[in-house]
Amino acid sequence: MDKILDVISGEVKKAFETAGYDGELGRVTLSNRPDLCEYQCNGSLAGAKKYHKAPLMIAQGVAEALQENPVFAEVSAVAPGFLNLKLSEDFLSGYLNEMAASEKFGVGEPEKKETIIIDYGGPNVAKPLHVGHLRPAIIGESVKRILRYAGHNVIGDVHLGDWGLQMGQVIMELEERQPELPYFDENYEGEYPKEPPFTVAEMGEMYAAASAKCKTDEACKARALENTRKFQNGVRGYRALWKHIMDVSLPDIKENYDRLNVEFDLWKGESDVQDLIPGMVEKMKQEGFAHESEGALVVDVKEETDTKEIPPCIILKSDGASLYSTTDLATLEERTQNYHPDSVIYITDKRQAMHFEQVFRCARKTGLVEPETRLVHIGFGTVNGKDGKPFKTREGGVPRLENLIEEIDDEMYRKIRESRRELSDEDARRTADIVGLAALKYGDLSNQAAKDYVFDVDRFTSFEGDTGPYILYTIVRIKSILEKYTQQGGSLSGLSILPARNPEEKALMLELSGFQAMVAGASKELAPNRVCAYIYDLSNAFNRFYHETKIIAEEDEARKAGLIALLMLTKGVLEDCIGLLGFSAPDRM
Ligand code: ARG
Repeated sequence: MDKILDVISGEVKKAFETAGYDGELGRVTLSNRPDLCEYQCNGSLAGAKKYHKAPLMIAQGVAEALQENPVFAEVSAVAPGFLNLKLSEDFLSGYLNEMAASEKFGVGEPEKKETIIIDYGGPNVAKPLHVGHLRPAIIGESVKRILRYAGHNVIGDVHLGDWGLQMGQVIMELEERQPELPYFDENYEGEYPKEPPFTVAEMGEMYAAASAKCKTDEACKARALENTRKFQNGVRGYRALWKHIMDVSLPDIKENYDRLNVEFDLWKGESDVQDLIPGMVEKMKQEGFAHESEGALVVDVKEETDTKEIPPCIILKSDGASLYSTTDLATLEERTQNYHPDSVIYITDKRQAMHFEQVFRCARKTGLVEPETRLVHIGFGTVNGKDGKPFKTREGGVPRLENLIEEIDDEMYRKIRESRRELSDEDARRTADIVGLAALKYGDLSNQAAKDYVFDVDRFTSFEGDTGPYILYTIVRIKSILEKYTQQGGSLSGLSILPARNPEEKALMLELSGFQAMVAGASKELAPNRVCAYIYDLSNAFNRFYHETKIIAEEDEARKAGLIALLMLTKGVLEDCIGLLGFSAPDRM
């Protein structure tokens, strides 16, 4: 289905031609004076030069050509040469009925269906998920859903940090506590136990203890590094412990993502590409891209046009160890081989911008990716506390992800209990979890990703203003009207939207008609905040309409059915939008 703006532009372009001018002048935009008109066209001003004519005369000619056009209720040419347009109620309701009958409310196939990999999540195995993992999960999940909705083939990869020092640290602490375990006996040749020698809680505790020691004790740090080398180099007992750490961590990581309603298609990690590294490095050397610099192996990635210093991409450290960038390069090689992606999108803290700049340049230069592949880094800002500094627990530590979720859910529960005393405790809890997730995600996604934001539980959980609960409240309100309608014997099938009868109703319809354009914009800009802005406007438009319009009390049954159809479309669009943001609405709240 064509975007409404394209339909309107098409009509105005034809009118320019009818009046004897270049049709391209007829491009229409949303009005910047909504008090005067709904859409406008400024093409006459541009045409004045070309045709040596007063712009107002051109506009008048075009307006004349549009007089009988059924798309418009009002077309006026105003000084100095604007065309002010108002849509006809008939055309608008017809357009909405077509939307309501179309799959995805008329969002068609993209011009080019792309294969897109989104790398988001990036949890580090053995470490607890914390506040830093909130944004990649929330933003990545939403970007994935938006691109998928727009018709692309999208693959989400968690890209585990499963090859690092933190695992060596856990092993160090374990050895200290239970040196008698067979993993540490070099001469042991039997099978290792299938059951891990620790629970997830014990592992978390061991990691915390070890990482504290390593901060102050050089010898500990050296041992942790040594352990890391050992499992990386395949020393049997250490590799078995690595596997135990994976087995214990992954269910816990999955549970955290489940609670956030975040799903990955691929559960790959840094460990999966280690075997590719030697070949990749060899090739970079042979082809003359990689050279030695201060003992390390590097690829120069600076370019003539750079305005800031871009240091070389380090491939191997002087001790021959690979780095974060090495793994990311090998992963790009693997992704290219397996999926030939058109785009690879990474979602991390914006402080990693330089890392990705170097990796992307190096991958292009060395031919690891196809020349047309788009490599994109979405760098997000920090989650701050009310003091404007990175969010901390009361004790000053890094807040755990599960505690953040809990904090929101608890506050939501308190608010729901307060307003809905009749709910059973269990219902209130369940509702609080659903609404809490919306509060958390909307609080994040309504900001531009690159900006920092303040984690403000009170504001996020408010039922009023630009918040998740407000959006859900609007959906729940519509659900309850629809329920009443069916309870009174009304049927929800076969209804059509009728021409608007009041300004608030028309305003709601105009908002709805912008859905396709919003999806196109959000997917082009990879911007979930556009979805948020849209549903906030749409919810406001709905609530104003609701305030002004009798629905259940409407006596004219045909009109009532038309209004119900409008409600159904509003609900459908809102529900698809919150689906794009990665949360859902309860039936009541
Ligand atoms: N594990 C990394 C971290 O904690 C994030 C990984 C992001 N993805 C990537 N391909 N580098 O910082």
